[in-house]
This record gives sequence, C-alpha cells and structure tokens, in this order.
Amino acid sequence: MKVFVFSYRDFDEAEYFTKCSQELGIELGICREAPSLENLNLAEGYEYISILTSKIDSPLLEKMKELGIRMISTRTIGYDHIDCAKARELGIQISNAPYSPNGVADYAIMLMLMASRKMKHIMERSDIQDFSLKGIQGREFASFTVGIVGTGRIGKTVLKHLSGFGCKLLAYDLYPSQEAEQYATYVSLEELFAQCDLISLHTPLTEDNYHMINAESISRMKERVILVNTARGGLIDSEALIEGLEKGKIGAAALDVVEKEFGLYYFDLKSEVLDNRELAILKSFPNVIVTPHMAFYTDRDVHDMVYASLKSCLLASRGEENPWRVQ
Ligand code: NAI
Repeated sequence: MKVFVFSYRDFDEAEYFTKCSQELGIELGICREAPSLENLNLAEGYEYISILTSKIDSPLLEKMKELGIRMISTRTIGYDHIDCAKARELGIQISNAPYSPNGVADYAIMLMLMASRKMKHIMERSDIQDFSLKGIQGREFASFTVGIVGTGRIGKTVLKHLSGFGCKLLAYDLYPSQEAEQYATYVSLEELFAQCDLISLHTPLTEDNYHMINAESISRMKERVILVNTARGGLIDSEALIEGLEKGKIGAAALDVVEKEFGLYYFDLKSEVLDNRELAILKSFPNVIVTPHMAFYTDRDVHDMVYASLKSCLLASRGEENPWRVQ
C-alpha cells in the first residue's frame, strides 16, 4: 500500500519514515510542503495522505475527494486544523497520532516553573551581564494551588509528575478520571478559576471551549494568576490576555500555542513582518514566555507520530479497526 506524506521533514522525520515504512511494507510519496490547491495533484493515485498541522479547509477537502483520497492521517494529537464536519460529509476519514504524553507534560511543567521564577527576564538580563536582583524575585511553586483543565493523557501525566512538588492540585474535566483523582481534587471550572495561582490548559479546542479564558473568566481569577497554555491557542482570547497582563491581573503567562499560529510556526520568518499583532505584543512582555508549539518535540514523540500515522493508514486500507480514527 502507498501513503503520500505532506510537510515531510528531512532533518528529523526522514529517519523514522524510512524505518517505519520498511517495517510496515508501505511505499511513500513525499512533499516537503504542506498540502495546498497548487500541490495536491502530487498525491494523485494515493488514497491515504499524512499531514502535519496545516489548515485543511473545505476547498482543499473537495479537491482531495476529486483525487480519490480516502483518509487524512494527521501526525499530531490535535486535529482542529481539519474541517472534520466537511470531511465527514465527503466521506473522507480522519485519524490522529497520539504519542507519549511525557514530552508535552514535561514541557508544561518546565513552563510553569519558568513563569513562576521569571526565567525569561532572568535569562535576558544575564545575557547582557545584568546580574542584579531587583525585579526578578520568583514565587515559591510549592505554595501554589495549581489547576489543570483537561485530565486526559497529558493532563493526567502533568498531575502525576506535579504530585512531587508539594503544591495543592485541582482539576476540571467534562469526564473526571479516577487516575487523576489520586493526585488532584476535581472542582467546577468556576472554582478552579477562583482558587488557583497557576492554571494550565490541556484540553482539545472545540466549539464549546473556544476562548474559555476570556475577559470575564480572567476577572474571576486570583490576582497575579499565572496562565500556561500548551494545548491550543484558541482556548485563550489573546486580547483579553493582553489586557489582563497590562492591568497586572495576570502575573505571567507561558504560551506554547497562540491564536493565528498557522503559517508562522515551524518557518524561518526572521526577515518578515508578521501578520499577528497579538503575538508581537505578547512576546514583548517580560513576564510572557512564548515558544513556537514545541512541547511535543522529542525524539520519542516524533517517532511515535510517524509510526502511528503510517500504521493507521495501513489498518484503514486493510479494513481493520483503527484505534487512531477520529469519529
Ligand atoms: P486527551 O484526548 O487524552 O485529553 C483531553 C481531555 O480534555 C479529555 O479528558 C476530555 O474529556 C477533556 N476535555 C475536552 N473538552 C473539554 C472541555 N470543554 N472542558 C474540559 N475538559 C475537556 O488529549 P491529550 O493527549 O491529553 O492532549 C490534550 C491537548 O493537548 C490536545 O488536544 C492538543 O490540543 C494539545 N497538544 C499540544 C501539543 C503541543 O505540542 N503543544 C502536543 C500534543 C497535544
């Protein structure tokens, strides 16, 4: 069987694509760019395609249907970049690629510690040999009440790993998990917002939770609350976040994901003027850490993403049950 891979990366994925495709007996077609109306013809003759986090909208899906593409496998956990309703309407299957939650969980905890210890500011000042103390005093993490929104694979891992830090742990999820209850107390979202010194997001982005963090929810949070987002940019209203930071209501933020990151992240744009003012403002604040959607980026996770994507295409082609299929 054959799979056409878009957004193929030579420097890290190639090794795993070669190994996994040989192991699974899959012939690969490759394109280093994201799928577009201009290059989609390259996938002609392929029923299965593998993609990364590029926007897959209605016109692109229509064209895929014309080309006979039966399944899109995204080498990511999140799949909100795909218009799933349209794909369903056209009968195109979608699958995602869950990987070890440790990479994202470690990264989220690193951001929590960095934000609470003002690490961006400390590093910037060290770089210019400013070794003074004023303005960089941190807050003790063990004294925090930390709120985890979303206790799926990543949120649970964060809770488990945080349990050694001595902080009080609260959690919120639409479907509470017994495993998470070993480490945290479930409360309502309102209580979590009101009681936590630090809030970390670990839910997918859906229609229901778009801008879950907005001016109104921020107003109900504790003074100097720290917000950490390694989930999806659309969970936070950037304008409200900026206002909260400007007013000092929000003490710090650490954002691995932001709104309107499509077309920016994973490209070298250092000579470009970016079409994302909120990102420019957020990056300029000393108490905001911005990283370009990197939380997943470990050796283990890249291997798992490639393997799961190819394996799910193989299972679908054989009509076997595909654990990674998105309903
Ligand atoms: P998961 O599917 O195992 O867990 C998601 C949890 O969120 C579930 O327990 C679900 O019940 C809960 N949930 C869904 N909607 C909710 C809502 N409105 N309110 C409260 N809880 C809600 O997913 P996993 O693997 O833990 O990943 C979580 C998210 O992390 C992904 O959806 C993705 O957006 C993001 N992610 C970010 C990465 C990065 O590199 N920054 C890498 C991987 C994932």
